[in-house]
Amino acid sequence: MILDTIEAISTRFSCRAFSGQTPPDEHLNTIAQAAVAAPSGMNRQPWRVIVLKNKDLLAELEAEGMKNLAAHPNKGVYERILSRGGKLYYHTPCMMIVPLAKAEPAGAELFDCGIVAQNIALSATALGINSLICGLAAFAFAGEKKAEFHARLGFPEGYEIGIAVLLGYAENPGGKPHEPDMSKISWVV
Ligand SMILES: Cc1cc2nc3c(=O)[nH]c(=O)nc-3n(C[C@H](O)[C@H](O)[C@H](O)COP(=O)(O)O)c2cc1C
Repeated sequence: MILDTIEAISTRFSCRAFSGQTPPDEHLNTIAQAAVAAPSGMNRQPWRVIVLKNKDLLAELEAEGMKNLAAHPNKGVYERILSRGGKLYYHTPCMMIVPLAKAEPAGAELFDCGIVAQNIALSATALGINSLICGLAAFAFAGEKKAEFHARLGFPEGYEIGIAVLLGYAENPGGKPHEPDMSKISWVV
């Protein structure tokens, strides 16, 4: 199954309950290639794309992320995750991690990172794979294990976590995205 672009955009949703099934490497490779096909300011391509399938490392990242989130002054986010089952990664079998190099002007790389994340999510949807863009994955790198995780994941020198996208298959198919607010569109003619 391959969906067209508009269909992929309108059917993608944030999956917060993954089954144990891992997407085939062939599909993960197609998605990783879609990630690095993203446009970037001045063609800087300030990213790397790491396909993480190692269950032990996924569990370690999640445990460290929860620990760092618990210590964060804003308890609201931690409590929201607890209320959703206490899992930052929702039992995902696979995560694409996007480390980023800083750009000039400061923050420009974040636009590039967002496009990479969307390329990952949409190409996954087109291939029948569910996803969740996971900003909170950054909490795994917010504490004392940051350098260790950078080394084990192979972050190049000077790169920091940009975003991670969880990839797998929804435990209960039929999830829906948010209701788009069409009132946010205006035309000037
Ligand atoms: C940059 C970014 C970071 C996000 N981080 C998280 C996250 O850490 N955990 C989570 O459950 N959802 C996360 N989301 C998903 C949003 O909550 C979700 O996109 C939004 O509620 C709309 O729902 P939909 O994606 O199903 O349309 C993130 C989305 C984006 C774009």
